[in-house]
Amino acid sequence: MQTFRTVVVGAGGISKPWFEALKAEQVEVAGVVDIKKENAEARIREFGLAAEASTELKKTLRRCKPDFVIDLTIPESHGSVTVTALKAGYPVVGEKPMASSMAEARKMVKVSLATGKMYMVSQSRRWDSNTATFHQALSSGQIGGVTAVNCDFYIGAHFGGFRDAMPSPLILDMAIHHFDLVRYFTGADPVSVYAKEYNPRGSWYKGDVAASCIFEMSNGIIFTYRGSWCAEGCHTSWHGNWRVIGDRGTVLFEQDALPHGQKVTGPNGFFSATAPVEVQPVTVEKINMHGGLCEMLAFLRDGKTPQTVCTDNIKSLAMVFSAMESSRKGRPVAITW
Ligand SMILES: NC(=O)c1ccc[n+]([C@@H]2O[C@H](COP(=O)([O-])OP(=O)(O)OC[C@H]3O[C@@H](n4cnc5c(N)ncnc54)[C@H](O)[C@@H]3O)[C@@H](O)[C@H]2O)c1
Repeated sequence: MQTFRTVVVGAGGISKPWFEALKAEQVEVAGVVDIKKENAEARIREFGLAAEASTELKKTLRRCKPDFVIDLTIPESHGSVTVTALKAGYPVVGEKPMASSMAEARKMVKVSLATGKMYMVSQSRRWDSNTATFHQALSSGQIGGVTAVNCDFYIGAHFGGFRDAMPSPLILDMAIHHFDLVRYFTGADPVSVYAKEYNPRGSWYKGDVAASCIFEMSNGIIFTYRGSWCAEGCHTSWHGNWRVIGDRGTVLFEQDALPHGQKVTGPNGFFSATAPVEVQPVTVEKINMHGGLCEMLAFLRDGKTPQTVCTDNIKSLAMVFSAMESSRKGRPVAITW
């Protein structure tokens, strides 16, 4: 098997599952860069790596000459880290969200296209047996064409750290997953959004950590999203609880249980006659960050375009920033990228 060499930038909380995935795929870690060198050193020790710890990305890239770079820094650093790596000639897989502004994200896409170096965003929830099963159930066409999608996300999460201080922690750091998932589930792109962000009484976050959003998607699909990251009790799944309505039935995906639904089989008076939607469980072997890593490795090996290549993933990010803009302006806004 062809082996690869990488430099990891950002050795915080999320780097642990990435280092586990790198070990499983036998990817050599040549360098770990972090503005807090002790974080880089701690991961190197923990995983028994023969990698250099550093605070200087450019120098480490020059010394290590990896096959690709992994950007696991905080959202505000993604732009500078990824552009530096792309300009130095290296493909990048980076954590979501792509950037902390659309201007920055557009620049990242532009640099990726200009340098001809792949930049993909890891949207871990795409690489998951449950979401893949839901995707499969919807793609089977049993409920006809999709007309409406609802997603509810309610979790009381006491993180500490950057999320407590950032503006719009729910929309920027979490809802990006759900906005990306609705595009994955339906294949539709965003058209416009009307959103209201708010910070509920008793919130332990500085920024608005709750929101209600109505998106119009291509094909006329209406996507309604309600969420909060400071809702105590009765949590939904981290994937969100989903209802997808087609013109011939409905499928539900809730609390991480196997999706189930009903499809119309014919007329039956006031209500139509229905039968259960047939759901074929899909097993995804390489899940979450491991799945994101494998998309990059498949690109390096075979040139297969990752499903979350930056030119596509920027549409999910545009949903984020347009929702924030709509909330600020108090009116619906068109979504562009
Ligand atoms: N896919 C998921 O489910 C998931 C889950 C958690 C976090 N994430 C994402 O992963 C990213 C990191 O999150 P985290 O929880 O690990 O954050 P964290 O704060 O624990 O770690 C970030 C690390 O990056 C370092 N850093 C920041 N700016 C840097 C720079 N310019 N150069 C080098 N190092 C830099 C910090 O010192 C820190 O060690 C975020 O974008 C977050 O949204 C994704």
